[in-house]
Amino acid sequence: MAQTLKLVKKVSQFTRLIPELGVKLGLKGKERTSSGLTDLPGPSTLSFLTELFCKGGLSRLHELQIQDSARFGPIWFASFGPVRTVYLAAPALIEQLLRQEGPYPERCSFSPWVEHRRRCHQACGLLTAEGDEWQRIRSLLAPLLLRPRASADYAETLDGVVCDLVRLLRRKKSLLGGSADLVRDVAGEFYKFGLEGIGAVLLGTRLGCLEPEMPPETDTFIRAVSSVFVSTLLTMAMPNWLNRLLPGPWDRLCRDWDQMFAFAQKHMELRKAEAATKSIGEPKNANVSRPHLTHFLFQKELPYASILGNITELLLAGVDTVSNTLSWVLYELAHHPEIQTALHAEITGAMAPGSSTHPPATTLAQLPLLRAVVKEVLRLYPVVPGNSRVPDKDICVGDYIIPKKTLVTLCHYTTSRDPDQFPEPNAFHPERWLGGQSAPHAFASLPFGFGKRSCIGKRLAELELNLALAQILIHFEVRPEPGAGIIKPMTRTVLVPERSINLKFVNR
Ligand code: HEM
Repeated sequence: MAQTLKLVKKVSQFTRLIPELGVKLGLKGKERTSSGLTDLPGPSTLSFLTELFCKGGLSRLHELQIQDSARFGPIWFASFGPVRTVYLAAPALIEQLLRQEGPYPERCSFSPWVEHRRRCHQACGLLTAEGDEWQRIRSLLAPLLLRPRASADYAETLDGVVCDLVRLLRRKKSLLGGSADLVRDVAGEFYKFGLEGIGAVLLGTRLGCLEPEMPPETDTFIRAVSSVFVSTLLTMAMPNWLNRLLPGPWDRLCRDWDQMFAFAQKHMELRKAEAATKSIGEPKNANVSRPHLTHFLFQKELPYASILGNITELLLAGVDTVSNTLSWVLYELAHHPEIQTALHAEITGAMAPGSSTHPPATTLAQLPLLRAVVKEVLRLYPVVPGNSRVPDKDICVGDYIIPKKTLVTLCHYTTSRDPDQFPEPNAFHPERWLGGQSAPHAFASLPFGFGKRSCIGKRLAELELNLALAQILIHFEVRPEPGAGIIKPMTRTVLVPERSINLKFVNR
């Protein structure tokens, strides 16, 4: 009996590999027999719902990816609440899908965020817009955010924000008399940094998030960002009838977005009034130092509602992403002092002789170990552990035909911890990105996505991370909290630490 079971397991493992083998061999879909969605393996709806709601699966969606790919192979089919989705968990299959993208890639067929915009008569921003509307916004924002010249302009703005972050860390660590140098919940402090940074770039003003007394509205915004990610998962996972029966998550999602829209609108109005004052010749407001993205958008032919939708969504996108990545980088460096020492040496070695300020942003961007550390952290803790696409035509992936309009989930967390791509996949080894080892598949770790719809904040995020890491390591040696165990990630739409990361910041 045991032998038979082993044989069945081996045969099923082999057959699972066939689609990927086909891709690796470069076979074209038409040369193989292609199957439809009904031929795909996958969990039953009941077992999937039990996993989600009775076994805490919603916060472990990233682990479920790994679990399901071990069970069903690199491609399977399941329902996520009312949404039926194909899962891809092999780099070659993900590449095959993404390379067939049309001119307006669509990320999600059903989004509670789009539904909020519809119900509350708000316009979509770049994150949620689709089709022509998305294309128009993307072509306006891309030159402002993705050109190397643009990010160089933001470096000066962000320098001041990073100096304030270092001051905040100094203040926080001296608050806990008994536990010298300890800063509790660094991600919480870095959310403030994330909002202050993106606010400075978008609005050209300082929001005061890093001051000893944080303005209550900025606190409300940060809370709304955290809360909206939880309610998003819930509303998406719950079937429509359950959403009607238990409207709590929907109400919460709308309240959170309304608060974020109100915050953005208030600041946009201030900028608009300021621009009007300037244009009639009044002296410049000392608080506003340089042109900002909102100012550029005002000059374009974009309706006010669309500018508001975009600024709100960009503010949201700039908070959790950078702050969680920064928290994980410092967490890993604290646990790998030898790598921290080497990185500190690399950064200080690139400083001008006799200077106490960090190397310029353009130099930081070229430092090999700094780049490798950030890449490795984004491999281990991809902010977006599972992305998605909705093909606009029937496409062939592996041995299957995926009909147009099917939601396809890309399991980035699984591929970036795949031992075939990354030996010792759960270990922090930045050196794997320094050359000398066999390179992983180019689609195994895609932290900023791919193609026309990839992250528009990539350059800005890298700039913020580089500047913050350089300043923090120049001023402090970062150590783990004594006795604190291992901290794992959990899913809250984006990947976040499952509990507070507390770290010691010892003055250098
Ligand atoms: C470590 C930091 C960040 C990571 C890892 C990250 C990751 C991602 C990923 C995976 C996507 C989806 C890409 C795709 O579908 O192919 C995305 C989209 C996006 N990100 Fe980021 N992001 C980060 C920071 C930022 C920042 C700072 C901003 C704000 C400027 C931002 C704004 C956006 C926007 C607006 C989109 C939607 C783009 C579109 O649909 O055209 N991101 N990001």
